[in-house]
Amino acid sequence: MDSKNIFDSNRSAWNEALNYHQKARSNSLQEGFQDSAFTTFDRDCDAVLLEKLAEIDLTDKVIGQLPCNNGRELLSLMKLGAKKAVGFDISDNAILEARQLAEIAEMDATFERINILDIDDKYNNYFDFIYISEGSLQWFPDLNAYFAVVSRLLKKGGQLLIFEMHPIAYLFEVDFDAQKPDFDLLIPYFEKGPYQYKDGLDYIGGVEYESKEGYWFMHKLSDILKALIKNGMILEDIEEYNLEMANNESTKVLDKFPLSYMVVAKSDR
Ligand SMILES: C[S@@+](CC[C@H](N)C(=O)[O-])C[C@H]1O[C@@H](n2cnc3c(N)ncnc32)[C@H](O)[C@@H]1O
Repeated sequence: MDSKNIFDSNRSAWNEALNYHQKARSNSLQEGFQDSAFTTFDRDCDAVLLEKLAEIDLTDKVIGQLPCNNGRELLSLMKLGAKKAVGFDISDNAILEARQLAEIAEMDATFERINILDIDDKYNNYFDFIYISEGSLQWFPDLNAYFAVVSRLLKKGGQLLIFEMHPIAYLFEVDFDAQKPDFDLLIPYFEKGPYQYKDGLDYIGGVEYESKEGYWFMHKLSDILKALIKNGMILEDIEEYNLEMANNESTKVLDKFPLSYMVVAKSDR
């Protein structure tokens, strides 16, 4: 499968998924963002994120998110004092919703529908801070290419924060029943894939549907870190947590496993 097919398929699969997410959320985000104090960083796992963001201090910074989905996280980040925000995502429906939410929130955030790997050179050396959140890295077959984009978009000294599902948590992106564990079902840590979510991507409403084809890839922690290093990023912090981020019934009970991690790195180019 060539990469154009992978990204075209994922664009369709995500457009379809957004219809389910919007149905499940109803108007909650549209209503929420009418309130200037509203944030979506209200999950249990967000406490460690907010602590780290306070340390980094987003005041007057130009911030970006890749990929940004419907912009709810980027708009919530802006409320921590950022001057300007730009979000990028491949899904047409996600970007339409993000623009609507920015208008409701009356915030200086712009959203571009684009494959991250194709982000325009006008954004080179543009950002003081880039945020990558859960469920983001697995859509990219080649992390070197992905972090090359992050590196060119950051100003020298600009910071990247990744708050993602741990690669170990991706082992459980299958129909795994922790009460009756069948380890043969697990995604192998050392096999990149591609894999498919055949029952859809409705982790908001929990509806299972026959999904359009979409492809994701397993990236082990060492590959993530190596891709950062290769692209001139200096590691400033790393931590692993057993905080569940994905609303996955099987991982919720796996408190002996690392389920999420945070990396802060600084651009040296
Ligand atoms: C699980 S979300 C991650 C963002 C955020 N944590 C969230 O939950 O909304 C995954 C996003 O990746 C986007 N995506 C997948 N492949 C992409 C690509 N090649 N370029 C840009 N966005 C992509 C999808 O459209 C989707 O909005």
